[in-house]
Amino acid sequence: MRPGLRLERELSLELVRVTEAAAIEAAALMGRGDTEAVDRVAVDAMRAILGTVHVRGRVVIGEGEMDEAPMLYIGEELGAGPVPVDIAVDPVEGTSLVAKGLPGAVAVLAVAPQGTLLNAPDMYMQKLVAGPAARGALDLDDPIAVNLERVAERMHKRVDELSVVILERERHLQLIAQVRAAGARIKLITDGDVAPAVAAAIPGTGVDVVAGIGGAPEGVLAAAALVCLGGEMQARLVADTAEQAERARAMGVAPGRILGLSDLVRGDDVIFAATGITDGELVRGVRFEGVRAARSHSVVMRSRTGTVRFVDALHHLDRKPFFRERPPTGGAGERTQ
Ligand code: FBP
Repeated sequence: MRPGLRLERELSLELVRVTEAAAIEAAALMGRGDTEAVDRVAVDAMRAILGTVHVRGRVVIGEGEMDEAPMLYIGEELGAGPVPVDIAVDPVEGTSLVAKGLPGAVAVLAVAPQGTLLNAPDMYMQKLVAGPAARGALDLDDPIAVNLERVAERMHKRVDELSVVILERERHLQLIAQVRAAGARIKLITDGDVAPAVAAAIPGTGVDVVAGIGGAPEGVLAAAALVCLGGEMQARLVADTAEQAERARAMGVAPGRILGLSDLVRGDDVIFAATGITDGELVRGVRFEGVRAARSHSVVMRSRTGTVRFVDALHHLDRKPFFRERPPTGGAGERTQ
């Protein structure tokens, strides 16, 4: 990016519009058991509104390779604004959560100057995340118990007062046993590790640490927020096959190497936005209120100033071109509730 060309403050609000639209569309299909439809309507909405944002962006984390995804595929070029940026999206982070009406799903987006977001391959990543007090206190090479002790000390808490979020997966049985043995409290989640990672760096959310293996693209999205919040994160790519290992190396990241926040987001200029689809620790989910009105709750942050804004918005859907000009999502009849 040319010197002096930075992400402007106004962009934050424009980007929230993008996650709001995706969240509203996805939320309209909550509980219907149709993960594909949830994803499709959110992608449509995100792509449509992103096209109106004043940036010239390239999707570096998206819905898959060009031949797998019609929109928001990795490498897709968007917009015609003056600022060349990397765009990382997850229109529905926690698709199954929405399909089942479970808490914790969000629509997420991060934007940073071109070339600064890690183009994380679609593979697993081991992650360890904590808030600002734990800066410099995490080491993935150390046992989890040692990491928890250090975090607790930095937070002036006891280990048994820490709350650790872990994805409930068979691969985490040992980790869960170790965290229990260390005495910390655990919150097992069925999906969606981005929102808890962001929440870990915001006081009062009830999340102190996120640990375990989740998606690598989700890791970069979480890192974007943690850079804004001054939080801490260590990560490493987990290659299950030789092909994945090769893919990771081609992206410039050797599997097994510990990555810090500055490897995941190579710069200090990033904007992160998330809107709740279903309720969670970070943001509330979308509520449909009255006739063609929806209330959304988002968080948007900008690394340059560190300001974190919670945006509580009431949308009159029939006054917004995107919602007005397309048929109601999810089948029969007009959406009124
Ligand atoms: P979606 O792709 O359905 O949004 O799922 C997201 C997620 O739960 C992430 O939050 C997490 O990092 C990853 O999937 C975990 O992957 P897996 O389900 O394969 O364990």
